[in-house]
Amino acid sequence: MTVSVGIDKIGFYTPNDYLDMVDLATARGEDPNKYLIGIGQSKQAVIPPTQDVVTMAANAADQILTTATKKEIAMVLFGTESGVDNSKATAVYLAHLLGLPSSTRAIELKQACYGATAGLQLAADFLRVHPTAKVLVIGADIARYGLRTPGEVTQGGGAIAMLVTANPQVLALEPTSSYHTEDVMDFWRPTYRTEALVDGRYSTTVYLDFFKTVWTDYQRQTQRTIADFNAFVFHLPFTKMGRKGLRQILPEASPAQQAQLKEAFEASQLDNRHVGNLYTGSLYLSLLSLLRHGRMQAGDRLGLFSYGSGAEGEFFSGILQPHYQQGFDSDKLDQLLAQRRRVSVVEYEAIYQAQLSNDGRDVQLPVGEGQAKYYLAGRQHQQRQYRSR
Ligand code: CAA
Repeated sequence: MTVSVGIDKIGFYTPNDYLDMVDLATARGEDPNKYLIGIGQSKQAVIPPTQDVVTMAANAADQILTTATKKEIAMVLFGTESGVDNSKATAVYLAHLLGLPSSTRAIELKQACYGATAGLQLAADFLRVHPTAKVLVIGADIARYGLRTPGEVTQGGGAIAMLVTANPQVLALEPTSSYHTEDVMDFWRPTYRTEALVDGRYSTTVYLDFFKTVWTDYQRQTQRTIADFNAFVFHLPFTKMGRKGLRQILPEASPAQQAQLKEAFEASQLDNRHVGNLYTGSLYLSLLSLLRHGRMQAGDRLGLFSYGSGAEGEFFSGILQPHYQQGFDSDKLDQLLAQRRRVSVVEYEAIYQAQLSNDGRDVQLPVGEGQAKYYLAGRQHQQRQYRSR
């Protein structure tokens, strides 16, 4: 008998500052509706130098791990394109910060915004062989395009942590998925750069083409049609992108189902609209947003489209479980988003430029009162100084 495997718990973290997109549009001489409607973003997370992908992942994972669960984690799979070292995996720093047992296998996975999906699928396959184990899958990134670039409005950052287990509480993954890889230069970041290089409009075309390819192939493999789905969840580099993805397949649905799928999409983009792009975590923040704000029911089939520039796409599906709402803390997420501080464009630009430099010198970062539980205190002797309160 096939073991049911999938997402048991989801945690999310994004730092305390945000930039309002009307403020950014005004400063950049753009019509605010271009950002609010044309791009579909209202706010963007601003990442202070005291947070990086390791600390954000730790702050997200802390919400879903108990002392008992930590002992059962067999593997940490950390998806990111914003790693902090060209050799050592972020997963090793994370495992240490969280106090995971040394019997844990800890590795980093990179393929732009696709890394967390690779982690999720590898975890699922591992659990089909080792059903008593638990795997911690992370998707954490800081999306940086540069000040005054077309991509600036699509920046953001944060971390998703997923506990992946057998007999999961939230979403049981179905075994069939369709994936597709091509060597495409739509978005990349050479090791000497802290900001992405992107052929923006081309990247949106590749995204849509890949979605069409894997959706068609998934249907061929499973003999399912759009009528078998209750919602579609998309990688959301900005919310308009997923809206375009959904529009591409809506004509395949009846008018009544079209209305239902559109309603689900609105729920799935709400939280992303207020955080911005977190690259590999974005699909899973959108899943969380759908589960928090949508009218979903146990037994519903969700279709998920993951896309990582460069490029790799995957379409897979899962069945919502009876107690899915117990797998995340919706009130805590509301609180996290509500308590954030709105920064001015001038403050945002200063924070953006204050990221830890690449020159290796010693730095002590200003650590304030409202610091998250896990934070970066600076760098000494070429080593990042991670701390927890
Ligand atoms: N009111 C309403 N809408 C308006 C408007 C107004 N006043 N002014 C413009 N718009 C609309 C435009 O019509 C356009 O809508 P459509 O796409 O539906 O035609 C939309 O606003 C955007 O306008 P532009 O295309 O002119 O915007 P731009 O060229 O300045 O930049 C972008 C858009 C290319 C997406 C740019 O933000 C970018 O490069 N972003 C980063 C790359 C990215 O996110 N790519 C996504 C696919 S790759 C991926 O998914 C991986 C990843 O995470 C990076």
